[in-house]
Amino acid sequence: MDILEAIFGRRSIRKFKKDTIPYRVLFDIFEAAVSAPRAGNIPSTWMVLAESDKLKTKLKDACVDQDWIENAPVIIAVCSNPKRLTQLYGERGKLYAVQNSAAVIQNMLIAAQEYGLQGTWVGAFSESEVKKVLTHKNKMDKVDVHALVALGKPDEYPKKLPEIQATDLVYYESWKEVNKASKMIPLANNPKLQNTIKRAKQRSKKTRHKLIKKIGKTIKHFK
Ligand SMILES: Cc1cc2nc3c(=O)[nH]c(=O)nc-3n(C[C@H](O)[C@H](O)[C@H](O)COP(=O)(O)O)c2cc1C
Repeated sequence: MDILEAIFGRRSIRKFKKDTIPYRVLFDIFEAAVSAPRAGNIPSTWMVLAESDKLKTKLKDACVDQDWIENAPVIIAVCSNPKRLTQLYGERGKLYAVQNSAAVIQNMLIAAQEYGLQGTWVGAFSESEVKKVLTHKNKMDKVDVHALVALGKPDEYPKKLPEIQATDLVYYESWKEVNKASKMIPLANNPKLQNTIKRAKQRSKKTRHKLIKKIGKTIKHFK
């Protein structure tokens, strides 16, 4: 899949098909996750895969009004230990730990689309509750839970979001209103890019059909 197509085709999905995600697909996504850039090349982020209904329900209970999350085929808890980063970089290490996790999450969300999957980055949860569910109590203070990622085959096609143009958020040389890129260049109208965005919007349905054809209707682990 074209990289830009995956970037523009990514959407947060909160309604999933029940299809199980094969482990070989999940582990491709995890490989993409751990290939993200990381400060000082220190792997501060790790992931916990939650697949059983029991665990997913507990995670749902730790979220703020987000019952939909337990219907995702998998939930991935993105956890972090900033210790080595803070030893090396002091206070700034904490920021690096969060940035490391953000890069990991975005890689997963982009890679998931190669397999017709989408995910949602979930930040609204009680961290202490999630920790209670996932770790032993004597390890709780060593772990931060940065996010949950719900992943699966989409069963909804979310509405178009209000357009945010790069020219609204990009400044030239300094962060001053007069230096807004939109004041200097006409709105981005690169036909190749527009084409990619259009293709990305049509893609999810097509990929789903291709996937179903390829591995059959009941996708089972290791099939
Ligand atoms: C740090 C962060 C926290 C988020 N937390 C939640 C959340 O708790 N629940 C949720 O449904 N979506 C959450 N989202 C997803 C955003 O709502 C979503 O990305 C945004 O509305 C744009 O929609 P899109 O992802 O479809 O482009 C979060 C996204 C980020 C980056």
